[in-house]
Amino acid sequence: MSVVRQFRWADYERVVAVWEASGAAVLSRPELEAKLLRDPELFLVAESGEDIAGVVLGTYDGRRGWIFRLGVHPGFRRQGVATRLVAELESRLQALGCPRINLLVMPDNDAGLRFWASLGYLSYPDVLCSKPMPAPAGQALS
Ligand SMILES: CC(C)(COP(=O)(O)OP(=O)(O)OC[C@H]1O[C@@H](n2cnc3c(N)ncnc32)[C@H](O)[C@@H]1OP(=O)(O)O)[C@@H](O)C(=O)NCCC(=O)NCCS
Repeated sequence: MSVVRQFRWADYERVVAVWEASGAAVLSRPELEAKLLRDPELFLVAESGEDIAGVVLGTYDGRRGWIFRLGVHPGFRRQGVATRLVAELESRLQALGCPRINLLVMPDNDAGLRFWASLGYLSYPDVLCSKPMPAPAGQALS
């Protein structure tokens, strides 16, 4: 049984391995450092002995919670790891007063869609629109 807890930097390489094995884009250390300035308690790992079995990254903007980069290592799937990660993240978001949680799933990700449906997440027809922003003067954005 894995234990869900807040991310520590010592986990980083094992978290990267889970993201890579899950087909999720990897957050670089600088990206993660920037995220952890805001709500470090919403970046969670599932630890199983020496292994990181799964990871999920949550954010809260004061109005909506968002879930990103959920991944479970293939060797730990269908054992409830993702369910426990999301349950802990929901509990932490609820404690912050978050009234609704959103997330994005690729339309061809059958396992992901079934997983989220199993937890009561309904799909909406909205289309994601995105625009890269220029870096502030003198800074590089990843
Ligand atoms: C989707 C993913 C996170 C699920 O992790 P998991 O730890 O295996 O999920 P759980 O064991 O908590 O599954 C809970 C329920 O979700 C559903 N589910 C999970 N994986 C499923 C699959 N491959 N096919 C169908 N249903 C699935 C089932 O209802 C399951 O309950 P059951 O095992 O009792 O039937 C994992 O497959 C993964 O990392 N996939 C690659 C990355 C990804 O797609 N992330 C989500 C992007 S938004």
